[in-house]
Amino acid sequence: MKKTLIAHRGMSSLAPENTLAAFSLCKEHGVKWFECDVDILQDGTVIISHDDTLDRCTDKSGRLCDITRDDLSNIDAGSWFGDIFTGERIPTLQQMICLANDKQLNLNIEIKSCAASAKLSRLLIDNLITALKDLNPERELIISSFNHLVLSEFKQLSPQTPVACLFESHNLLDDWNATIEWCQADYIHPEDKGLTREMVNKFKDAGIKVNVWTVNDLARANELFNWGVDGICTDIAHQFPSKYRL
Ligand code: G3P
Ligand code: MG
Repeated sequence: MKKTLIAHRGMSSLAPENTLAAFSLCKEHGVKWFECDVDILQDGTVIISHDDTLDRCTDKSGRLCDITRDDLSNIDAGSWFGDIFTGERIPTLQQMICLANDKQLNLNIEIKSCAASAKLSRLLIDNLITALKDLNPERELIISSFNHLVLSEFKQLSPQTPVACLFESHNLLDDWNATIEWCQADYIHPEDKGLTREMVNKFKDAGIKVNVWTVNDLARANELFNWGVDGICTDIAHQFPSKYRL
């Protein structure tokens, strides 16, 4: 069975998370898949960011929903991580798609819950679907979200795109199967914490593919693969044996 390695927020232990530098490094390390998070700016520009504020991973502070595309050139998203990344920008979705096409990388795009408004959340879905038309058809793609309302809406509008329901351990309840059905999800993306062989068996028996996040321990990853999970999302993809990479 094919075992998929997904670089969480790109090669996020070697470069600032969710930047073009972090995504580029996947190619150099033979990692074919990366995960990234998408959110939206005030003017509808879809960008790559885990947080909905600038505070943690840039040299500025404030909310993403208060800035526009023009502001991105004045925001440094790399110097917090290391001197050589000074000048790295928050990527737009468009730039990230170009990079994936150029470097022949596959994408797990996580739609973040837009806290600003339902209207902006709706625009995020619409603009994501429009931008994905530029992704080369040979690239593989999974759209995931913890927000199952948003994910369900995305799947209705883009039924041909594989989607994944994300779950944290504490909200992976007995109704997971109904949620998967509701979203017409192809994958479940459970948190690693507390995940058992029995749970993995239940997912597999339901005919659903399983990618587990975020696994930063090679032995645990091996155990999960031996239980039959399809993929692992990790911050240390470069440390995995070459059989998972080339
Ligand atoms: O998709 C797996 C993982 O990215 C989910 O959590 O908070 O890192 O986006 P988070
Ligand atoms: Mg994520």
